[in-house]
Amino acid sequence: MEIDLSRVLCALDDIPVDGARGFVAGQGDCPLRGLLVRTRGGVHAYVNRCPHAGHGLNLRPHEFLTPDGSLILCHSHGALFEKSTGTCVAGPCAGRALTAVPVRIEAGFVLLADGVEAASFEHVEAV
Ligand code: FES
Repeated sequence: MEIDLSRVLCALDDIPVDGARGFVAGQGDCPLRGLLVRTRGGVHAYVNRCPHAGHGLNLRPHEFLTPDGSLILCHSHGALFEKSTGTCVAGPCAGRALTAVPVRIEAGFVLLADGVEAASFEHVEAV
């Protein structure tokens, strides 16, 4: 079975184990900007938009985690999110969650899951 290259977000090996990596998917002026988090349980993907004030989570490329790597950190106002669920566990949006992006792994690549379109996340709003 051939891989649909238009759905590839990155190679699995490009995400450090227990680490994170940003990705851009889709085309046009507003592509989907997201982050991939690799845990022992698999790869989780989220829209790179904080549910507090709608800012991107990172300041520098691929820097999404706390210094100890245990949580996702929003660098704007310090919200902390679980890596495996995207739920905010501390900070100004505690109890809310990052928007999950369904992904799958095939032949060593991370792809958008079947039926998921990058454009469908264009209007995810902060709440
Ligand atoms: S925008 Fe993320 S904590 Fe404020």
